[in-house]
Amino acid sequence: MRKKESLTILAIETSCDDTCVAILRIRNLELEIGNWKLEILSNIASSQAKVHAKYGGVYPTLAKREHQRNIVPVLETALKKARNPEINLIAVTVGPGLEPCLWVGVNFARAISRELKLPIVPVNHIEAHILVNFQFPISNFQNIFPAICLVVSGGHTQLILMKEIGKYKLIGETRDDAAGECFDKVARILGLKYPGGPEIEKMAKKFKSQKFTSSQKLPRPMIHQKNYDFSFSGLKTAVLYHYQETPPKIRNSKRYIQKMAFEVQEAIVEVLVSKTARAVKEYKGKTIILGGGVAANQKLRREMRKKAKELNCNFLVPKAKFCVDNAVMVGMTGFFHWLRGEVKDWKKIKVNANLKI
Ligand code: KG4
Ligand code: ZN
Repeated sequence: MRKKESLTILAIETSCDDTCVAILRIRNLELEIGNWKLEILSNIASSQAKVHAKYGGVYPTLAKREHQRNIVPVLETALKKARNPEINLIAVTVGPGLEPCLWVGVNFARAISRELKLPIVPVNHIEAHILVNFQFPISNFQNIFPAICLVVSGGHTQLILMKEIGKYKLIGETRDDAAGECFDKVARILGLKYPGGPEIEKMAKKFKSQKFTSSQKLPRPMIHQKNYDFSFSGLKTAVLYHYQETPPKIRNSKRYIQKMAFEVQEAIVEVLVSKTARAVKEYKGKTIILGGGVAANQKLRREMRKKAKELNCNFLVPKAKFCVDNAVMVGMTGFFHWLRGEVKDWKKIKVNANLKI
């Protein structure tokens, strides 16, 4: 452990459609490892949701342009909010993600690093979705590992066995669409806006509150297969066919949209919870860790918490604002790598759009 009272990290995230900058301060570093305290000095995100709304998904060249336009004002706001602290370390997402978008954040970080002579920690976006759950000291981490992590976002659906911080094994992932992508595509079919996840959740809640029982049973793809892979594109197609076969008068009604939203959420959540539970049993997991934008879904959070209790294991899930893309998760991951001395010179930092955990 290096002698230093505190560490101030500038964290940058531009892998998809949110331009994010956060400034974190970690205190009590001079004490033995495990007693540090995290302060979030600022956490700024500029969402491009409106820009991409008319495409029903992220359009990479547009996203890159928006990152270029936003990154300096977002940095300025983050620095002001944090009262212009002296920065000691830069953490930046280098992958996985959209390559043109990743380069905006990475080159910005490289330029700052070169000018201010600051070390950089390259961050894996998937690991960041997991490590944002570890905002408390390491002394509290006993009995957490092995953990089973489910990372569910617009670009990824992965089940990961975590032996400790920094040690992961990918045990399953989606073979086609990600869970968030399925929410987004179904929302588009139903005429709801982008991003689709929160819209589907809202509609599904209304359906439930109507106290109608649902009659439309959608498929649960791969739920009984003895592997940890997922497939969500068939589910989206099932909704599309049902929608196309339903007369316009009915399919455009609120009742139909709410029912379909409810059904698709049920199907996605059931598959995610069931596969995670099986992984916990096989790998003797002590903790279920959730992360990624879809983890903001209340139904998924509730069902996963229930399952964890049933399996007698811990359950970690970030606050909703730390489930969707943010730079706090990047700063936290940068911190854990810094603790292990894994810092780099700006010349060695490159983008890897297909980076694996
Ligand atoms: O992690 P994230 O912000 O970006 C990626 O790395 O992809 O995840 C965005 C995804 C979108 O597909 C969005 O529809 C989904 O997360 N999402 C949700 C909810 N909030 C965001 N899905 C279901 N329910 C939600 N409440
Ligand atoms: Zn993400």
